[in-house]
Amino acid sequence: SAKQLQFKLVLLGESAVGKSSLVLRFVKDQFDDYRESTIGAAFLTQTVKLDDQTTVKFEIWDTAGQERYKSLAPMYYRNAHCAVVVYDVTQPQSLEKAKSWIKELQRQADPNIVIALAGNKVDLAATRRGVPKEDAQRYAEEEKLLFLETSAKDSSNVSELFTMIARKLPLE
Ligand code: GTP
Ligand code: MG
Repeated sequence: SAKQLQFKLVLLGESAVGKSSLVLRFVKDQFDDYRESTIGAAFLTQTVKLDDQTTVKFEIWDTAGQERYKSLAPMYYRNAHCAVVVYDVTQPQSLEKAKSWIKELQRQADPNIVIALAGNKVDLAATRRGVPKEDAQRYAEEEKLLFLETSAKDSSNVSELFTMIARKLPLE
């Protein structure tokens, strides 16, 4: 019989890497060149149909990346079934920040949490790439994370990212 399962998903990562933009693309299929920085966190939902029998509903917490909001993050990743940790492929420092979020999740979040690392803004990579794809991919393999390079701007791999996560969740 058909079933709809709900999962709590949290987005984490440095300010301006494109967390809200990825969510806006996924939920509304829109993009803004001038998005305002998130205050606190935003909540949105979206469903992914995996097959005729199975729909996954994501309850998405889009957290604020600015340093002053860092202490709020545990409220959002506690009880999360899945996390998308985002960096900007043009900003190596943002991958270091992503790694520190991943360490924190591995220590403090649910031990079964599904974690995806997303290298966003890949539309800029031809001229401004700062993080080689192989470096991030190797790190993701070592840490057993899902990994994709994405673009909220041109839609590359955005629905694929959420579908890949949905397929890793316990669907029984
Ligand atoms: P905080 O809310 O401060 O944590 O930032 P955020 O991670 O939510 O970033 P946000 O989505 O607000 O995007 C920051 C800026 O990057 C905005 O000007 C976006 O238009 C731009 N941006 C986001 N995603 C992409 C992308 O895939 N490609 C390009 N070229 N720009 C992007
Ligand atoms: Mg935001």
